[in-house]
Amino acid sequence: MRTVVLKCPPDDLEKAAQVLREGGLVAFPTETVYGLGANALDEKAVAKIFHAKGRPPDNPLIVHLASAEDLPQVVASIPPEAIVLASRFWPGPLTLVLPRKDEVPLITTGGLETVAVRVPDHPLALELIRRSGVPVAGPSANLSGRPSPTTAAHVLEDLGDKVDVIIDGGPTGLGVESTVLDLTTSPPVLLRPGGVTWEALEEVLGKVILDPAILAKEPIEEGPVRSPGMKYRHYAPKAKVYLVEGQDEERIAARVDSLAAELAAAGLKVGVLATAEGAARCGRGLVLIGGSRRDPAALAASLFAHLRTFDRLDVDAVVVEGIKPVGLGLAVMNRLRKAAGYNIIEA
Ligand code: TXA
Ligand code: MG
Repeated sequence: MRTVVLKCPPDDLEKAAQVLREGGLVAFPTETVYGLGANALDEKAVAKIFHAKGRPPDNPLIVHLASAEDLPQVVASIPPEAIVLASRFWPGPLTLVLPRKDEVPLITTGGLETVAVRVPDHPLALELIRRSGVPVAGPSANLSGRPSPTTAAHVLEDLGDKVDVIIDGGPTGLGVESTVLDLTTSPPVLLRPGGVTWEALEEVLGKVILDPAILAKEPIEEGPVRSPGMKYRHYAPKAKVYLVEGQDEERIAARVDSLAAELAAAGLKVGVLATAEGAARCGRGLVLIGGSRRDPAALAASLFAHLRTFDRLDVDAVVVEGIKPVGLGLAVMNRLRKAAGYNIIEA
């Protein structure tokens, strides 16, 4: 298949919308990461998403809408909390899990009776969905298990021969995926931390429970998994990742440096993902700087691109400086623990 990369004047968007209507695959930018879109109501089109990504069939997809007014197309009932959250955070990086309407095929929801929905905050995404006239199923546009794509080039790298169209909207702003919140239970459960923080949700809803899988230090084996996506190794570069954590920032930075030195002495090619403050201490390895410790937004925005860069540099090991899991830092640390495959070093 020849993939067409579109820079997107309105005619191009119309072409991409037509591809969606006809059951094809369109990768598109959102404010979080690039999505791999298909008509969420078309079983055959959705099957192409799972095939292209190599995604396990029990991992459900997020359905993207152009407006909260379209919720009744895919959701069987809308609780009052959903209306409050939609008016506060949509368009934006918040995904709500709600009761599924029968029209949404089970392949889209990974066999669940719930459906995850969001309205993305990106003009190209919104215009694409509007013009297609259908709800758009869209997981992150990476091969299953790889870091999510934050540029069109990342999508091309993973799925170049498997999508019909890639809409190039430049680098995405946020860099980590949307927050996933389950509203089918009381109190609501945060299934995946993301662009809308836990703190911001609790301000609106009162108590919000954090799913134990979010900051697990080892894989959770027992009991049913609330968010099927959380059980798979994810966001992982090819190198072995060592995530250094602790209470004291200076000790973390010092341990990152000594661990990088130990691995280099063992003959490994070492990459270091550090904060600007921590990088000042690093004497060893290829150091990529995510941003200041005080600026988790900068760390989030560059996280996945840096993990992909280490792949291109062909390093054997990546040593990562952990940050405080508060605000957007919770999403960053959740992705890092998964990228590390729970290989956590306490400083
Ligand atoms: O920011 C984002 O959310 C991006 C952009 C493209 O919108 N999309 C994204 O999709 O990250 P994906 O498929 O990579 O992640 C969707 C997550 C998975 O962890 C999945 O298990 C969870 O949402 N999910 C989807 N539907 C669900 C449902 N009905 N119940 C519980 N979890 C669900
Ligand atoms: Mg994903």
